[in-house]
Amino acid sequence: MYSYLRKALFALDPERAHHLTIDAIGAAERLRLMSLLAKPVADDPVELMGLTLPNPVGLAAGLDKNAQAFNGLGALGFGFVEVGTVTPRPQPGNPQPRIFRLEEAGAIVNRMGFNNLGVDYLIQRVRRRRFGGVLGINIGKNFDTPVERATDDYCFCLEKVYPYADYITINVSSPNTRGLRELQFGDSLSGLLGAIKSRQRQLARDAGRYVPLAVKIAPDMELDAVGDIAGALKEFEIDGVIATNTTIDKSGVTNLPYGTEEGGLSGRPLREKSTRMITALAEKLDGELPIIGVGGIDDGESAAEKIRAGATAVQIYTGFIYRGPGLIREAAEAIALARREGTKAA
Ligand code: FNR
Repeated sequence: MYSYLRKALFALDPERAHHLTIDAIGAAERLRLMSLLAKPVADDPVELMGLTLPNPVGLAAGLDKNAQAFNGLGALGFGFVEVGTVTPRPQPGNPQPRIFRLEEAGAIVNRMGFNNLGVDYLIQRVRRRRFGGVLGINIGKNFDTPVERATDDYCFCLEKVYPYADYITINVSSPNTRGLRELQFGDSLSGLLGAIKSRQRQLARDAGRYVPLAVKIAPDMELDAVGDIAGALKEFEIDGVIATNTTIDKSGVTNLPYGTEEGGLSGRPLREKSTRMITALAEKLDGELPIIGVGGIDDGESAAEKIRAGATAVQIYTGFIYRGPGLIREAAEAIALARREGTKAA
């Protein structure tokens, strides 16, 4: 059924198709119609950052930036849904067009630039939660906040979303906000993680509830840098890491229409790069914190591959656009099998 819907949606400009889909999912959920759109996904509980996921397949950040459809998206069978990236103040993002489909490659290039309605709007939405799975809220900085003051933006959002999130993601890896990815390295990273961790501790004391923190990283770095990041995540007792965001390396798609558009590449061409990153991280982290694997999952095997590389759970975005809700179940089933085989082998 999704193949018909996809034909209709792909005939539209990608951004228009996106808004239509978000609106339709929101409306269908309010009318309690979601069970018609997707077959149920079997329970396969997984522990992640102290949370219990009903199943290990999640929706990656960026699709529901303003938390307008997370109840409906959750009802499609995702074990966890990550909304955002949200910034302190609303901002329009980059000029359109800013999303491009590379259909032959099962890929997308985007340079959205954190278009969102601001953290206060998102909070109004997440208050209306009916989704029973795990809800992550992904936070970032406004484009006009100097990178040296980024910590203020992250701490501001952290405080605002803390009461409503099951976990909070610190996004330091989108390629479309100037200077953002510098926050992944050296003193910038230590300064940010130190400040965020102490704010989290204080919020946990005040609220009597500990909300875990995950850091989302880019796939574009040397292996040495992975070791440094892993060291910092351990040092500052971060609860999880999400690997990876989109890549700026478009060398495999330059021959395709839109393959040289500026922005981050996601989908099938990202698969191997992201899996390599998970393997490297798993080695450096040595089980001290869990990895959420994301990048290029578009079938059961590509999902299971992330688990075998060392991820505890996965997220999908581009594969969901190309394959529809059926991919959630397919990925969940393949992961369940990979976990059973992993247990047997151990
Ligand atoms: C994204 N992604 C993203 N990530 C994030 O942390 N915050 C965001 O706002 C966005 N926005 C966004 C918009 C669009 C149009 C796309 C395609 C992607 C990145 C996304 O969450 C994921 O990390 C990558 O897309 C890799 O996974 P897939 O798409 O290959 O499954």
